[in-house]
Amino acid sequence: MRMYDIIMKKRNNGVLSKEEIDFLVEGYTKGEIPDYQMSALTMAIYFNKMNAEETLNLTMAMANSGDMLDLSAIKGVKVDKHSTGGVGDKTSLALIPMVAAVGVPTAKMSGRGLGHTGGTIDKLESFSGFRTDISTDHFIDQVNRIGISIMGQTADLAPADKKLYALRDVTATVDNMSLIASSIMSKKLAAGADAIVLDVKTGSGAFMKKEEDSFALAKEMVTIGNGAGRKTIAVISDMDQPLGRAVGNALEVKEAIDTLKGEGPEDFRELCLTLGSYMVVAAGKASDKDEARAKLEEVIVNGQALEKLAEFVEAQGGRKEEVYDTELLPKAQHIEEIVSEEDGYISGIVCDEIGICSLILGGGRETKESEIDLSVGLVIHKKKGDYVKKGESLATIHANDLDKLEVAKKRFLAAYSFTDKEFKPEALIRGVVE
Ligand code: URA
Repeated sequence: MRMYDIIMKKRNNGVLSKEEIDFLVEGYTKGEIPDYQMSALTMAIYFNKMNAEETLNLTMAMANSGDMLDLSAIKGVKVDKHSTGGVGDKTSLALIPMVAAVGVPTAKMSGRGLGHTGGTIDKLESFSGFRTDISTDHFIDQVNRIGISIMGQTADLAPADKKLYALRDVTATVDNMSLIASSIMSKKLAAGADAIVLDVKTGSGAFMKKEEDSFALAKEMVTIGNGAGRKTIAVISDMDQPLGRAVGNALEVKEAIDTLKGEGPEDFRELCLTLGSYMVVAAGKASDKDEARAKLEEVIVNGQALEKLAEFVEAQGGRKEEVYDTELLPKAQHIEEIVSEEDGYISGIVCDEIGICSLILGGGRETKESEIDLSVGLVIHKKKGDYVKKGESLATIHANDLDKLEVAKKRFLAAYSFTDKEFKPEALIRGVVE
């Protein structure tokens, strides 16, 4: 079999067989197929798509490209969560400690930034000394000991996705339903949880911009998960404007901490409580969503969720002082306001543009080798439906390079649109696929 023929077949809109998919996944994982051939194939997939069977075969080949974790050494129903990616999507940072504080063992494998979106692993590295490259033994021990761990993809777990994810990030091949579904579900299946809660984003900041595509992606992933014997549920949530207010690694960590103290933005808190309720019920720690929600609210009020985050940060080599004093987190040198150039109600925010502003400031990668700047980003003060006066601050921008600051500021302002009539933003939760 030759990779050249496989690329040509997909370029000509053919359907790849299981044997061809197994061949390319194995060859790419072993380094026998180079990045340039894989880039050509992913671009062909991007344009010509894959059917449900190809997507399932790709998922299983990537899940089997390394070890399949056996979490049976951890007592209880292990629940995992994954988002399809968005702007300001720091959900795992607050949600996982909340759920763990309620007694649900959470063993999560997360990724780095992808396209215009940030990644949990990059964000967690805002804590000095924090390690996400832990071994699977450490991962399992830690969940057994303190009920929570988040690790990056090791060389052993779904390594095909790890390589492909980094390649897609820099080759404009992220936003394809089959590539997203197989990327997420291969990791989730390999990481071994019993139940999986998916947060499928929709809107201009998501990879799936149209609601119908987000529902289709959700159905595809739920079918793959349930077919593999994992109880899988997907919540479709709004990403037509940034989630919460902070966009950028350390800024998002701070917002997650504020949320665990009960001081976070309402939309972000609501999403954490909604996803968390499904996780707590799936783990059998509450009989229904209302009971689960009450338990989650309780661990915010009594401080146990924040303590769980501190415990987790310390267990993975970070400094828990930074959880209790966010002033210690990385800080940018230049902090400026972006003021509105007009009066009116905000009727639209081109959300992926806001993610790109953070990338321009240095918060994401231009190439696979790029270092990211954890301190930069934006804190948004005015969102859809808000009324703003000319000269009022729309956001605070945090930068370390004044030229980049100017470029990002212009792009930020161009992403906003205004109307003189009152404007009601879309609902945060658009639906659930079980
Ligand atoms: N998250 C992933 O892990 N993979 C994707 O392709 C998109 C979001």
